[in-house]
Amino acid sequence: RKLEINIGRKRYSSKTLNTKYTDQPEGPIYPLDVLRLDISKALHDISGIDHSLILNALESTNSMDRGDLLLPLPKIKVADPVAVANRWAIELSTHGCIGKVCAKGPFLQFFLDQRYLIQSTVPNILLQKGKYGQKKSRHQKKVVVEFSSPNIAKPFHAGHLRSTIIGGFLSNLYEAMGWSVTRMNYLGDWGRQFGLLAVGFKRYGDEKTLQKQPIQHLFDVYVKINMDLAKEEINGNSKCGISGEARSFFKNLENGDENAIKIWNRFRSLSIHHYIQTYSRLNINFDIFSGESQVSKESMNEALDIFRKNNLVKEIDGALVIDLTQWSKRLGRVVVQKSDGTTLYLTRDVGAAIERKKNLHFDKMVYVISSQQDLYMSQFFMILKKMNFEWAKDLQHINFGMVQGMSTRKGNVVFLDTILDEARDKALQIMENNKMKISQVDNPQRVADLIGVSAIIIQDMKSKRINNYEFNWNRMLSFEGDTGPYLQYTHSRLRSLERTSSDFTTDMLIRADFSNLNEPQLVELVRLLAQYPDVLRRAFETQEPATIVTYLFKVCHQVSSCYKKIWVSGKPADIAIPRLAVYSASRQVLHNAMSLLGLVPVDRM
Ligand code: ARG
Repeated sequence: RKLEINIGRKRYSSKTLNTKYTDQPEGPIYPLDVLRLDISKALHDISGIDHSLILNALESTNSMDRGDLLLPLPKIKVADPVAVANRWAIELSTHGCIGKVCAKGPFLQFFLDQRYLIQSTVPNILLQKGKYGQKKSRHQKKVVVEFSSPNIAKPFHAGHLRSTIIGGFLSNLYEAMGWSVTRMNYLGDWGRQFGLLAVGFKRYGDEKTLQKQPIQHLFDVYVKINMDLAKEEINGNSKCGISGEARSFFKNLENGDENAIKIWNRFRSLSIHHYIQTYSRLNINFDIFSGESQVSKESMNEALDIFRKNNLVKEIDGALVIDLTQWSKRLGRVVVQKSDGTTLYLTRDVGAAIERKKNLHFDKMVYVISSQQDLYMSQFFMILKKMNFEWAKDLQHINFGMVQGMSTRKGNVVFLDTILDEARDKALQIMENNKMKISQVDNPQRVADLIGVSAIIIQDMKSKRINNYEFNWNRMLSFEGDTGPYLQYTHSRLRSLERTSSDFTTDMLIRADFSNLNEPQLVELVRLLAQYPDVLRRAFETQEPATIVTYLFKVCHQVSSCYKKIWVSGKPADIAIPRLAVYSASRQVLHNAMSLLGLVPVDRM
């Protein structure tokens, strides 16, 4: 038996629609896409205005009483838009899947035909499941997303946490939009501090502890040796002792000394090994653990050669400097090589970018780094541009604001583990308040971990990236209000409804007869579900997770208001089935959007 789904009912060949818009959506056509096509066709027929102009002018609405799509007439440059809106509202009202058109000043509000809306949205979600909302591309493009990038032996601070969760989300989003994604972690694993760390390890290192807790142990050792170093400097013998030893170790490292490399390699690989486990709690898998240490001498020399060839560098006191003020005053001057010949963070970044282009052939590369490095990133990008790399335009810095007050019982947060553990423990405490419920949860520790992670992620993504926010355990873990646990709660509630109605098979839901589904709240819910593919595209344009989070809360609130009044259990099949289909589709959309953000939706909590 083949299922015929009434989607993409109207299709126009892409030849007639030579537009910016039709360049974008390849793959599944969703109900709102059909509405867009119907509007542009109908409007073109009565006015002669170009299809593409209309398609590009159509906007999503932020509240549904303003329609499923909105057309601001000034955008298509008609004279006397208010009068025209009134006239067109009448002429357009029954074309294709357009159900209703309202004129509001110079705006036209379009509403999908209700039957078409439900019939083309609900079964489609149930059929497409995890793929609903996504886009397929004929020519898959490649993106490298560099994110997280902590520094070995140094604290994992809030900036790294934000980079990790925002980067994880962006990677998922690119994938959903049909890109091939390389997730890359660029560790801070090079520099003088590794000389110091090696000296410290000789004094304070312990093999067993290193094996068990490499990140914590290396950090402890680093703190201790830094204290020793400070004492030494006060005593004025900084030329010899620790500092001298550290410098010579790092020199050995830079010269490729086998023994030095061996020691450092162990620090690095044990740390990575541990990081992999922690990242998996956030549902993140890196394809590449790169790092400052991995940038080859050749690519850095290539960079220095181009600097000279393009006349970018001046020598000042033996150091090589690029004066960026000639292109932009605020960019100042930057050193790209020190007088002792050692390289710098910036030069390593230039070398790394050259290598990545060569090896990974990306169409785009995204750096997810805190806004504290805004100036640095502009300098870096300007340099690549002046090196005449045509791909410099394909690089993007995704920045974000600061987090205040991220601390745990033990004080300031230093490790990612510690934050996640604390979130899990606090979530577990709250779950234990409801003895009945927790007794039904298979693995409370695991569920608490997932809820804790959700709390952290949603708190982070609730407002625009660039905003600062205050880390607040109580607020983020609350089961009420717009929090991660509330999303999880809504998801698990819908799961529970599906469990108790499991007599109705998915096949029955997909073939449901929706002609009696008229409850306005449920219809509103379906309208929201139909928006999801548009929400994804909008989030992709702005690269803002908040776009999706805001949408998710709208869906949850709508689910809540339906759930209380519009029942499934105890109803006859012809009423129960279409209702359950809508709830089930809602759960699927929640599931898809939550997963995209990096949450693992729970079945019970
Ligand atoms: N490790 C750096 C830090 O902690 C972040 C690295 C960002 N990436 C880059 N390509 N510079 O500040």
